[in-house]
Amino acid sequence: MWQFTSPQKIIFGEDALDSLEELEGEKALIIAGQTVKRLGLIDKVSELLAEADIDVGVIDNIEPEPSIETVKAVAEIARDFEPDWIIGLGGGSSMDAAKAIWALYERPDLDVGDISPLETLGLRKKARFMCIPTTSGSGSEATWATVITDREGKVKRELASRELVPDVVILEPWLTSTMPPHLTASSGMDALTHAIEAYASNWRNDFSDTLAIKAIQMVFEYLPLAVSNGEDMVAREMMQNAATMAGMAFSNSFVGMAHAIGHSLGAIFGIDHGKAVALFLPHVIRYNGEVVSSRYAEILDALEIDFDFEEDAPNILAQALVELMMEIGLPCEICEMDIDWKDYEAELENLVERALMSSANLAGPREAEFDDYREIIVVAFGSLDKG
Ligand SMILES: [Fe+2]
Repeated sequence: MWQFTSPQKIIFGEDALDSLEELEGEKALIIAGQTVKRLGLIDKVSELLAEADIDVGVIDNIEPEPSIETVKAVAEIARDFEPDWIIGLGGGSSMDAAKAIWALYERPDLDVGDISPLETLGLRKKARFMCIPTTSGSGSEATWATVITDREGKVKRELASRELVPDVVILEPWLTSTMPPHLTASSGMDALTHAIEAYASNWRNDFSDTLAIKAIQMVFEYLPLAVSNGEDMVAREMMQNAATMAGMAFSNSFVGMAHAIGHSLGAIFGIDHGKAVALFLPHVIRYNGEVVSSRYAEILDALEIDFDFEEDAPNILAQALVELMMEIGLPCEICEMDIDWKDYEAELENLVERALMSSANLAGPREAEFDDYREIIVVAFGSLDKG
């Protein structure tokens, strides 16, 4: 037995945001960060909600990698304001924060750590939950997971509950046109990594497969276009849809080793998440290829990339990814970034240990031990002189 959980309603395409004018409710609390505020997107959403006669409250200071303290403080504000809609507006951080804030608003008796797939939360007694992403990558708008940082314990808490999936997702293409090329590229590679890891996962299923394979095709076709011309609204729309579809796929079949190591690299060297997972993905594909080459062959078929033998598929797919990353201006090796080999080498053990602890190992197609991770992490550094 298995189950598939996804948002109840996804409103997408040109003018999707205008649907807010017809939203039914009395009070909405918008949860966003400073960038979204600066871009005027909070004002735009607030205006549309006002057209629907909805009172609007705004939280505009959600930090990247939101903390437990932020979540608790905003939940307190929500309890005073008593909204019947909680709206996460922005990238993964704002949407993740909004999920946890909503849970604590509904259940003041809960602690952040109580958000668990094993717990019945009983949400939706006070408010419904909406996500409006302004980036195309994290997939948070489609998932039932949230990552909240415990600054005291210096760890990221990976929390999840199927109840956290939004009631409504609005995918308005022009919202993502504010992303600069480098962010378009890295967030797009995050979406692609979600889809490829979901497709190779041990928990893959017919529903997630369909979404993942379509998302992979769309990213390969439209990410270079969105990076080279941010005003290409067709490319923006396709990338937005692909990112949400990839989110629905991995939310129901899980990610893998590229995320485990990417999280490590991000935590230790502060590398952007999408960039970090993409750096490891080709190496992880070669590693997993020993057991799931047929899955990678299916991806190549979907991409109409020729190959002669199934056992060649992992290598050819890995190469196609490297070429895509070069085309969109992302580094393909860690040595291309501002990281010195000596500093990297000094953190090798730490990188491996953190990767081994990641929940992203739960459903990977090939089990990995310390030395397997170590080898991938060393090879991914690249070919510059390590002396
Ligand atoms: Fe990711």
